[in-house]
Amino acid sequence: MKTYISASILGADLLNLAAECDRLKENGVDMLHFDVMDGQFVDNISFGLPVLEKLSKYTDIFKDVHLMISDPLKYIDAFVKAGSDMITFHVESSSDPDEVIAAVKAAGIRCGISVKPKTPVEEIYRFLDRVDMVLIMTVEPGFGGQGFIPETAEKISTLRRYITENGFDTDIQVDGGINAKTISVVRDAGANVIVSGSYLFNAASMADAVRSLK
Ligand code: DX5
Ligand code: ZN
Repeated sequence: MKTYISASILGADLLNLAAECDRLKENGVDMLHFDVMDGQFVDNISFGLPVLEKLSKYTDIFKDVHLMISDPLKYIDAFVKAGSDMITFHVESSSDPDEVIAAVKAAGIRCGISVKPKTPVEEIYRFLDRVDMVLIMTVEPGFGGQGFIPETAEKISTLRRYITENGFDTDIQVDGGINAKTISVVRDAGANVIVSGSYLFNAASMADAVRSLK
């Protein structure tokens, strides 16, 4: 299974996003991870549609949009129009997951479903025939720069086993606290789409940091 690196621009130099996008492409990063927070589903507020629109006009890098918002269904069309290549929403949100998946897939883009650290991974099993990816949060969503929660590794291996046993072809994404040390834990457990924010953007050499994750 191919490994992809997705850079969370929450950790980027936000005053120089265009240059940061260039840096991602130059250093072999596969995707741009765009964290949307509404101050309701999580405590923090980040950035949203107008910023994504601008980024989409500037760069063709794959846009991996992570919606940490209460009512994702209401905003799917807008995030598709703004240039998302994949939209991931939370099973804990107040929207009906079946409707969100149907809306994302009808738009012809990839769909991911996410669980917070305390949500049992079994809760998303019934959606596996329709989603392209499951995001297992490895920190509590809301802020970059937190420490990896080790207990999440078991959820990753349980899910990878279930995916294999049932013949699905689902990517497993991890997000939060991933660096040169924690990468081996999540890789061994079966994750193949790796989000990294502060580790990648603060590295002395982004190229070396990407290599260490790949
Ligand atoms: C957390 C976000 C993450 C975060 C990752 O709520 O979803 O994408 O920016 O940042 P690091 O890699 O710094 O933990
Ligand atoms: Zn994220």
